[in-house]
Parts: sequence; C-alpha cells; structure tokens
Amino acid sequence: MKLEEQKKSEEENLNEEQEKKIIVKKTKKEEKKELTVQDLPGVGAATAEKLVDSGYGNIMSIAVASPGELVDTAGVSEAAARKMINFARNQLDMGFESGEELLKRRKRVDKIKTSSEALDNLLGGGFETSSITECFGEYGSGKTQIGHILAVNCQKQDPDAVAVYIDTENTFRPERIAQLAKGAGLEPEKVLKNIKVARAYNSDHQMLLAEKVEDLITKQNLKVRVVIVDSLTAHFRAEFIGRGTLAERQQKLNKHMHILLKLADMHNVCVYVTNQVMAKPDVFFGDPTQAIGGHIVAHASTFRIYLRKGKKGSRVAKLVDSPNMPEGEAGFFVTEGGLKEI
Ligand code: GTP
Ligand code: MG
Repeated sequence: MKLEEQKKSEEENLNEEQEKKIIVKKTKKEEKKELTVQDLPGVGAATAEKLVDSGYGNIMSIAVASPGELVDTAGVSEAAARKMINFARNQLDMGFESGEELLKRRKRVDKIKTSSEALDNLLGGGFETSSITECFGEYGSGKTQIGHILAVNCQKQDPDAVAVYIDTENTFRPERIAQLAKGAGLEPEKVLKNIKVARAYNSDHQMLLAEKVEDLITKQNLKVRVVIVDSLTAHFRAEFIGRGTLAERQQKLNKHMHILLKLADMHNVCVYVTNQVMAKPDVFFGDPTQAIGGHIVAHASTFRIYLRKGKKGSRVAKLVDSPNMPEGEAGFFVTEGGLKEI
C-alpha cells in the first residue's frame, strides 16, 4: 500500500517536473517568437521602420544580412549594424548540423506518387515530403487537379495520412475527390474524412491558416503528409495592385513561404503550391509567360513545375528547378480516375 502510494506520488512529481520543463521550453519558444527588429540593440522606432520597409522585417532577415546592407538601408553605423546582426544570430539557433544527421533526416523523406509514372519520374519518384513543390501554369492547365490527386494519393500510401487543403479560389471539390478516390481504389468517405479543407478569404487569412497547420500536427496528433495551397498567389496578386505595393507584397509572400518551409522541414510534410503566370511584355523569343511571385516563391520552392496544355488534351509538365534532378518534361492525361500515361 505505502509503497504504491509513494510510487504514485513520485510519478506525480515526475509529471510535474516534466510539465515545468515543457512550460519553460514553451515560454522560451514564445519569447523567441515575439522578438521583432525593434528589440535589437540600438534600434528605435524610426530605424525599425526603415528596416521593415526595406525587407528586413524579422530577426532571421537581420541574422543573415551583411553589415553593409544594413548600413545602406537603415542608415546606421557599421558598428551598430554588426551589433544588431550578432544579437540576431545569438537569438536564433543557427548552429551546424553534421552531414550524417542531415542524411538521417533525408532518409525519412517520402515521395507521393500521382499515378502518372512519367510525372513521378520527372520528380525523382513523386512529390517529395520535406519540400515545397511549386506548380505554375495558365488557367486550366491542371494545377488544381494535381492538388486533388495528392490529397487522395497520400492516403493510398499511408491510410492514416491527412491532407490539408488551403483553398483560396473556392475550387476544392469533394465530388472530384470521391471520383479520384474510387480511381485509386480507396473508400471515398474515408478519404474525404482525412482531408481538412479551409477556405482562405484573403492573404492574411491564408497566412494564418498556414500557421495553424502545425496545431493539427502537434495538438491534434494528425499525421499531416500533404499541405496544398491553391492558389498561393491569387490573393496577394489581387490585394497588392500597382508598383508601389510590390515590396510589401513580396515581404508578406516571403513570410508565408517561410512558414510553409518550416512546416515542410520540421514535420516532413509535402507542401504543394499553385501559382498563376502572367505575360512578360518584353519577351520576343521563347515562352512569354512567367510565374507570379518572382524570386521569393522560386527560391523557397525546392521543385518547380511548369504545366501547360499539350496535344490532344494532354498536359505537359516541365521540371524547371530541382536540386538533384535533370530538367525534363513529362506528358500525361487528366482523366476521371486520376492521371493516365500518354
Ligand atoms: P486555374 O486554377 O484556373 O489557373 O487552372 P488550373 O491549372 O488549376 O486547372 P485545373 O486543375 O482546374 O484543370 C482543369 C482541367 O482539368 C479541365 O479543363 C479538364 O481538362 C481537367 N479535368 C478536371 N476534372 C476532370 C475530370 O473529372 N475528368 C477529366 N477527364 N478531366 C478533368
Ligand atoms: Mg486551379
């Protein structure tokens, strides 16, 4: 009896201890989160404003900046710039990771298959987890269709897998999911249950939703494998019109991409984002279209696919950017049950 009671109280103590540790950890994390450029040594309101206006909106951007850049943009002395940079670097965990550790982390990387072998091969076996894949192309090229297919197919590989669909253009269709599920030999009701859809009404809402995905993983214990943002850029494009607002738009988009990158990296999630194209007025040779979002989206994406309509209703995907795959093209058909080879 006594022994048991003692054991029990020991257990309780341990739990309390653990809890304390967790709380301390949490508050530490929160402290870090809350730091802004205003908290940097020697930065007052005016300097902070200059920094933010020039794209140095958070501690990370300062930590990776060079003193010269900050001298130019914020008008501070070089010594002050160094102080700010060092402080920012100390705040962030910017340590090294061994190649061995990195390889270990790379080993958990998975590939989500689409049912078009050609497209999967183009990407080295499928859409990669721990990465962002950007798909850009004109209307009707199939970007949304691929998003739907990933939401279904991740469940084919893992029955517990959950897909998150952030829908900005109201183009998510549960009926289409049911068709694709049948095509993949899965039970439509179960597949639909494991897709969490959120309609984003503006860019701020979209960014907030992306941040909330982490809660699904850490608080609700869902096994989120795919996060689809369809479309990544539509709201940003509609809300920031005119040259004067471009810097602000890119800054926000940059923040959004970083949230997605962190999500991909920390939780081994496959992030799939769609992007429209616009006409380049000054191109006479080659393809006169380019992706919205510019370098910020391009740099944050590990894989970039340019999708276009091909012959006889087919679609052609071109791999534009990838760290370890050659550039190439793959053709396929979008059919009722999924993608089909040509
Ligand atoms: P935007 O969002 O407008 O930029 O276009 P998108 O690139 O997202 O195009 P989306 O993925 O919506 O592609 C639409 C095309 O997919 C249609 O024109 C059809 O060709 C094809 N498609 C959609 N559903 C089906 C289907 O059930 N069966 C077949 N065969 N094709 C379909
Ligand atoms: Mg679409």
